[in-house]
Amino acid sequence: MKTTSVLFVCLGNICRSPLAEGVFRDLVEQAGLAGRIGIDSAGTGDWHVGRAPDRRSQAVAAKYGIDISGLRARQICRADFDRFRFIIAMDRSNLADITAIAPRAHAAEVRLLLDYAGGAKGRHVPDPYYGGPEDFEETYCLVREGCEGLLDAVRAELAGVRADA
Ligand code: 4NP
Repeated sequence: MKTTSVLFVCLGNICRSPLAEGVFRDLVEQAGLAGRIGIDSAGTGDWHVGRAPDRRSQAVAAKYGIDISGLRARQICRADFDRFRFIIAMDRSNLADITAIAPRAHAAEVRLLLDYAGGAKGRHVPDPYYGGPEDFEETYCLVREGCEGLLDAVRAELAGVRADA
């Protein structure tokens, strides 16, 4: 059976992308696709490598029944472009940083998370690091919206029926 893989990327890999990893894993498990989709997250920066997700991200995830406490931050590397089919950025700055280190030839689909959601293209998941709990709630809602759309694209990829690739 076909398998695929998704890497979520933000700046620090402690707020948005670990939350996206947890939310997407939860959706994938509920869909019965856990064995067919590899899921990970990384940061474009290296400041927080080895650290657990920000407590505020852990708290909002826990509020929705998702445990991300065991995740540890790492930095994206060039090998990730071979390892992952989908490389998913939270904002335009992440997208530019990812593109800047991409090998000349790679097969990964590199896009903003919210490009998989309905509505206007170019929407982003804002950095909540300097915000309050309400900003992390907003992050959760946007991440969930994006992950639901992304799951549709990943399902289509697994079924070999992608029209928009
Ligand atoms: P993230 O949030 O990119 O969603 O993990 C941030 C985490 C840390 C910093 C910025 C954003 N920082 O400046 O340390």
